[in-house]
Amino acid sequence: MDSSTLQIPVVAPWRQLLLASLQRTKDIPESRYFQLASVDNTGAPRCRTLVFRELHQDNEIIIISDTRTEKFTEFSSNPRGQICWYFAHTREQYRFDVTAQVTTFIDNELWLTEHWSRLSDAG
Ligand SMILES: Cc1cc2nc3c(=O)[nH]c(=O)nc-3n(C[C@H](O)[C@H](O)[C@H](O)COP(=O)(O)O)c2cc1C
Repeated sequence: MDSSTLQIPVVAPWRQLLLASLQRTKDIPESRYFQLASVDNTGAPRCRTLVFRELHQDNEIIIISDTRTEKFTEFSSNPRGQICWYFAHTREQYRFDVTAQVTTFIDNELWLTEHWSRLSDAG
């Protein structure tokens, strides 16, 4: 008998809502910015604005950053965080409790090179 895997997609109720918000605000660059909070090694919250890059099929929200930033250190030792995302045009707020997964060039060079190549010089 051959071994196999069974993949069972789970529908996240927020996914369609978020995609609809993104679609309705696709001409408003600010709607791609959200706030992501992490927790530092003293337990204090740390919050910053980031650019939304992509929503994966498996419901991961993708951001691009640099390993020299505090968020990299913070999420590497404590993956828990929160995203707060306000769409001013549609007056919708989303808050996601998140568990961050850090992927570096060492983990997946191909995937990261592809994302970095899409960034503008300013980005
Ligand atoms: C509009 C806006 C968009 C930003 N987008 C990103 C981003 O996509 N990735 C990123 O690493 N920093 C981004 N930044 C900078 C972060 O807010 C933050 O200053 C930086 O990542 C360092 O944060 P940290 O040291 O707390 O990790 C953005 C800032 C602004 C104002």
